Amino acid sequence: MNTKLRILTGTQSDLRLLREAADVISGGGLVAFPTETVYGLGADALNREASEKIYAAKGRPSDNPLIVHIADIEALFRIVKYVPEYALRLSEHFWPGPLTMIFEKTDMVPKETTGGLSTVAVRMPNHKAALEFIRAAGGYIAAPSANISGRPSPTTAQHVFEDMNGRIDLILDGGAVGIGVESTIIDLTADVPMILRPGFVNEEMLAKVLGKVIMDPAVSQKPKEGIRPKAPGMKYRHYAPKGLLSLVRGDTESVVSKINCLVREKESAGKKTAVIATDETKARYNCANVKSIGTREDEEGIARRLYAILREFDTMGAEFIYSEEFDTPQMGAAIMNRLLKAAGHNVIDTI
Ligand code: TXA
Ligand code: MG
Repeated sequence: MNTKLRILTGTQSDLRLLREAADVISGGGLVAFPTETVYGLGADALNREASEKIYAAKGRPSDNPLIVHIADIEALFRIVKYVPEYALRLSEHFWPGPLTMIFEKTDMVPKETTGGLSTVAVRMPNHKAALEFIRAAGGYIAAPSANISGRPSPTTAQHVFEDMNGRIDLILDGGAVGIGVESTIIDLTADVPMILRPGFVNEEMLAKVLGKVIMDPAVSQKPKEGIRPKAPGMKYRHYAPKGLLSLVRGDTESVVSKINCLVREKESAGKKTAVIATDETKARYNCANVKSIGTREDEEGIARRLYAILREFDTMGAEFIYSEEFDTPQMGAAIMNRLLKAAGHNVIDTI
């Protein structure tokens, strides 16, 4: 398959490209498109064959449900059985935006889109071109992140191209995304709303609107018997670079000296190493491939650069990657959740 690339410019001329992309969707094809979180791999959510194509293109297990993207609140009422009052409150606060809500689905949504589940995850992205594209394509776009299953999510169209060239019909290039980690997912079908995946919209922001909200314990713990994440996708090793990633935990001094020691050990055994540092620590590492994820004072910058850095280390062929921890105040839960999963919960304690 020849994958077309269309560059969005943020002007009137985008309308023609978005219409072309919408026609691909109506014809049952696949289009990668930008959102404010990461790039999505879109298909018509109400067309079972189109949804199946997403699983094939990504190499995604078929029990891992897709998020349905909408552009208007009216669209929600057609695909879900019941909208609790607090879901409406959440939509008023956070939509369009990086929050995905889970509801009981109606028969309009095929089981192929929801990985066999009777619930459906719904989100309205905060991205002008994405919203126009969804509207032009009929209102319901199923879209996981546009990466090969298990790889870091794409934050630029170039990342999408690396993974999806030849596998999908079209890529809409809207430049680098704004947030860089996937949306927060909240399950509204349980008695107490539960966060299944942390994101930009954090627990505190949700609690302000909902009163009570809990975090799925599987979010920060290593998968083991008895702890099964409620979001099927969260059970897989995910967001992962090709090299072996380890997180090194402790105070700055101990972390820097531990990482330097590990780098020396691996390099002398002929292995290629890489380090994820910060502006504050970068100069202190004795490693050829050290990259700063930004300053610790800019946690949104850290989130935005995370996946790109993991991909750059893949391109370099890094075999062992060491990272500091980034347990920052607002987005720390989201950043650490992605890093822990990318590392397969491989944490080195210096304490
Ligand atoms: O920011 C995002 O959410 C991006 C952009 C493209 O919108 N999309 C995204 O999709 O991250 P994906 O497929 O990579 O992650 C969706 C997650 C998976 O872990 C999946 O298991 C979970 O959502 N999920 C989807 N539907 C669900 C449902 N009905 N019940 C529980 N978990 C669900
Ligand atoms: Mg994904």
